[in-house]
Amino acid sequence: MGLAAVVLAAGKGTRMKSRHPKVLHRVAGRPMLQYVLDAVRAAGAERVIVVAGVGHEAVASVVGVVGGEVVIQEQQLGTAHALLQAEAPLSGFQGEVLVVCGDTPLLRAETLTRLVDQHRASGAAATVLTAMVDNPWGYGRVVRDAAGRILRIVEQADGAPEELAIKEINTGVFCFAAEGLFAALRRISTANRQGEYYLTDILAVYANDGRPVASVPVDDPTEVHGINDRRQLAQAEKLIRRSVLDYWMDNGVTVIDPESTYIDREACIGPDTIIHPFTIIEGESIIGEECALGPGARLVRCRLGDRVTVQYAVVVESSIGDRSVIGPFAYVRPGCEIGSEVKVGDFVELKKARVGTGSKIPHLSYVGDAVIGEKVNIGAGTITCNYDGEKKWPTVIEDGAFIGSNANLVAPVTVGRGAYIGAGSTIRRDVPPGALGVARSEQKNIPDWKSRKEKQQKRST
Ligand code: UD1
Ligand code: CA
Repeated sequence: MGLAAVVLAAGKGTRMKSRHPKVLHRVAGRPMLQYVLDAVRAAGAERVIVVAGVGHEAVASVVGVVGGEVVIQEQQLGTAHALLQAEAPLSGFQGEVLVVCGDTPLLRAETLTRLVDQHRASGAAATVLTAMVDNPWGYGRVVRDAAGRILRIVEQADGAPEELAIKEINTGVFCFAAEGLFAALRRISTANRQGEYYLTDILAVYANDGRPVASVPVDDPTEVHGINDRRQLAQAEKLIRRSVLDYWMDNGVTVIDPESTYIDREACIGPDTIIHPFTIIEGESIIGEECALGPGARLVRCRLGDRVTVQYAVVVESSIGDRSVIGPFAYVRPGCEIGSEVKVGDFVELKKARVGTGSKIPHLSYVGDAVIGEKVNIGAGTITCNYDGEKKWPTVIEDGAFIGSNANLVAPVTVGRGAYIGAGSTIRRDVPPGALGVARSEQKNIPDWKSRKEKQQKRST
């Protein structure tokens, strides 16, 4: 029998105080909704329907990445009303319907699988995932009869004091038999303190009809923590970040200080790489083996080969070949392709630069819109003057060229293979292969200048 998942994600998320839909706020670099979508897929859902409301276009673009259908709940009239929006896409569907909230990124696929398996085994019409918590405030409480059968769920706003003392709560995750589900939802009223259609009321509807209702307890209640505000977002961030670090440590990566290391969920890191404190690896970054990252490295959507060193540097949307050394204090901006055994040293900025194997840009340089060959040496203070105020122009430096210190290369310009540039030159014309390009005024020495100056000063006093 089939499994469909419905993800409730239309709520305004008022407590986030945000203009963005709550479920799109990121945890360890990816929208929290994406965690939930991955979990329901991994639990075997072959249909995934996301109920979106505010900001549904943005929600749809995230759903599109993972795959799933979006239905729109125009007005947020409650969780039962939200689930009813899935009736049309699920018409004729037979099997089970798993219902989860879009704001629980910590929920694990194993837990969902256990819920679905036990639901199927028991033959219940509905099975709710519950949790025992010390502080049940804000959650729906699970009310049972003397025999332990579930009678109903009562919400925080509606509970009598003795009900609110109950510590077994509704996690908001359910498994339903599709058969009769939507008919039952339509029988739910808004007769409650909040005037909403509560999904939780379906348990009382079934219990009254004599349809069996079951529950499955969750092992670890932190897993079902809903994110309602920015503090909870930070808590989830911390937990997921730690689990990402644990995963990489289990796979052979050394993390010197997990407290100060931030690795996004999408990143991938090779074994025997050592990550020093204050390192941030963002987005779909792919790091090779035996690299040394940090202290103080920020890598954004980067690709690094093996044995690369990056220290006190920011590298964005660029690739770096094996055994290259970046930093300390380097800024590699988007679009750089750095080859193997390259050195990009202190106070060097690169932008859209291709740097060939074995080349060195050791200090104080700006290299932008440039193609640099192999074994090129770029002296301290070299600047590619790539912008004329209107357009960007390319600089080409061919294999084995040597650029003396403090040179300005006014693009478009080409320095030929093996050519030399004299220190302090401003180069505006191409330099042929093997030539020396010098463009600076001749030095003049004025003899005895100091003593003449001192005499002059004496006379004037
Ligand atoms: C809900 C449950 C509560 C449970 C808690 C678990 C109900 C009535 N209450 O309360 O028993 O303990 O979750 O976290 O179900 N949503 C819609 N459309 C709506 C209303 C809500 O899509 O009209 C979505 C929200 O985006 C959210 C989810 O449903 O993802 C839960 O809504 P929320 O308002 O957070 O419910 P709680 O008050 O937390
Ligand atoms: Ca909630």
